[in-house]
Amino acid sequence: MIDNRAGALPVEGVPAERVLDEIRGLRGLDRPTHGGRLFAYVYDPGVPGLDELAHAAYAGSAHVNGLDPTAFPSLLAMENALVGAAARLLGGGPGTSAPDVVGSVTSGGTESLILAVKAARDARPEIAEPRIVVPVSGHAAFAKAAHYLRVALDPVAVDPATLRPTVADVAAAIRPETVLVACSAPSYAHGVVDPVAEIAAVAAAAGARCHVDACFGGWTLPWLRRLGAPVPPFDFAVDGVTSISVDLHKYAYAPKGVSVLLHRDPGLRASQYFAYADWPGYTMVNPVIASTRSGGPIAAAYATLRHLGEDGYLRLAALTRDAVAGLADAVRGVDGLRLMAEPESSVVCFTSTDPGLDLFVLVDELTARGWHTQPQLTYAGLPASVHLTVTAAVAPRVAEFGPDLADAVAAARAAGPVQLPPELLALAGSLTPEALTPELIAGLAAGLGLGGGAGPLPDRMAMVNNLLNVAPVRLRERLLVEFVGLLQRPTW
Ligand SMILES: Cc1ncc(COP(=O)(O)O)c(C=O)c1O
Repeated sequence: MIDNRAGALPVEGVPAERVLDEIRGLRGLDRPTHGGRLFAYVYDPGVPGLDELAHAAYAGSAHVNGLDPTAFPSLLAMENALVGAAARLLGGGPGTSAPDVVGSVTSGGTESLILAVKAARDARPEIAEPRIVVPVSGHAAFAKAAHYLRVALDPVAVDPATLRPTVADVAAAIRPETVLVACSAPSYAHGVVDPVAEIAAVAAAAGARCHVDACFGGWTLPWLRRLGAPVPPFDFAVDGVTSISVDLHKYAYAPKGVSVLLHRDPGLRASQYFAYADWPGYTMVNPVIASTRSGGPIAAAYATLRHLGEDGYLRLAALTRDAVAGLADAVRGVDGLRLMAEPESSVVCFTSTDPGLDLFVLVDELTARGWHTQPQLTYAGLPASVHLTVTAAVAPRVAEFGPDLADAVAAARAAGPVQLPPELLALAGSLTPEALTPELIAGLAAGLGLGGGAGPLPDRMAMVNNLLNVAPVRLRERLLVEFVGLLQRPTW
C-alpha cells in the first residue's frame, strides 16, 4: 500500500527499502515498459541483463557533472566516443566525405532539434527575421524550436499519398531569410523517409543549412540497410546535409536522456555554443541547453553501445524488421484497415477505411487486450491513424497481435462509432481557444471523465479523442494544455 500522506518530504525520513517499495507501487500504475506490448514512448530490445548494466553505469556517473569537461574527463571521453560512433554510423568520420564531423550529446531529440535551429540562426546574425522550412510531417520539436527561438516556421504540406513533401514545394518555401531546411529520416507519425538528397540540394543551392532529423531512425536505418533493405541516402554521404540528430534513447536502446547532434564540421557547430564571461562567477561555456548535466545518461548509453556492439544492433534490427513485417501483415489481413504507408523503417501506421469502425474505439479495444497503441488525430487532409513504434521486444509477441487485432476490430465495429453529444460537437466547432474559461474547462473535463488532481484517467479515451479530432488545431492544443494542467497539481 502506498503511503502518500506524508508526501515527498516527510517530517521523519523513511527507510530506504520502504521508499523503494512505495516507488515500485507507483510504477505499477504505469504502462508496461517491457514486454513488447507498448507501441510508443519506450524502446525495448528485450535483451536480458541490459537494464542492469545500464543502471549500474548510470549509478556510477549520476553525480558527475558535464558542466566542466576538464573536471570530469571521464564524461568527456564517453561523450566523444558516443559522438564518434554516431558519426561513423551516419556516414561521417575518417575516410568518408565528411571526415570532420563533430557533435554533442544532448538530453533528447527535442533539445537536438532546438540546438540545430539555434546554430543555424546564430550563424546568420545579419538576418533580422530568420526562418526555417519544415515539412508538416517534421517533428513538433521544430515548431517548439521556432517558438522558443523566435524563428518563423514555414511549413510545407505533404502529399497525402506518399506522406512526403515534394521537393518543388520545399524549394518554393525557401526564402532569402531561410537559415535551415529540415527533413525526416523517417517521420515519427508515419515512418516515411523524406527525399533527403533532393531537399539537401535545394537547401544548399539557397545557401541554407539542411538538418536531417534522424532522431527516430538514425539508429535503425543504417542497420536495416546493412541487412539489405532499400534505404535511400539520408546521412552525411548526401552533399548538403549539414547536421543530423539521432536519439540514443530510442533505437540505441539506452535509458532516457541521450541524443546526439552532429554537424558536418566544427565551423557549423560553433554557433551552437553559448559562452558567458560577463559576471563574477565562472565563465559559462555550454554546448547544449543544460548547464549542469548528469553523467548518468551518457555513461548508461556508452555501456549500452559497447555491450550490444554492431552485431547486437544488427540482430535487434533484424528482429524489429521481422516484427514490422508481421504487424503490417496483421493489419493487411483485417478488412476495414489500411496501412498509411508501406513500412520502410520501424513504424507501422494504419487508418480505418470503414465509417463504421471508429479508430479511437479500436485503440481502446486494443488497450483492453493489453496492446497500447498511439492514436493520431486527423490533420490537414490526412486521416486519423494508429501509430505503432516497433522495437525488437515486439518480435516474440507478433503472433498474438493478429488475432487480438481482428477481435478488437470486431468489438469496435459492434460498439459503433462514438456519438459525441450534439452540444459538445457544437462547442468543438465553434469555440475559440480564447473563449475557454476555467469553468468551461472544468465542466468539459468532468464530462469526459478527466478527473483533476492525480485522479486516474478513464479506461476508455475514445470520447476524448473524438472530441479532439473534431476540434481545430489551436483548440486541441489549448484543451490539452488545460487538461494536462489539471493533472499537474501538487500533492500536499
Ligand atoms: C523524428 C523525431 N524527432 C524528434 C523527436 C523528439 O525526441 P524527444 O522526445 O527525445 O525529445 C522524436 C520523438 O519521438 C522523433 O520521433
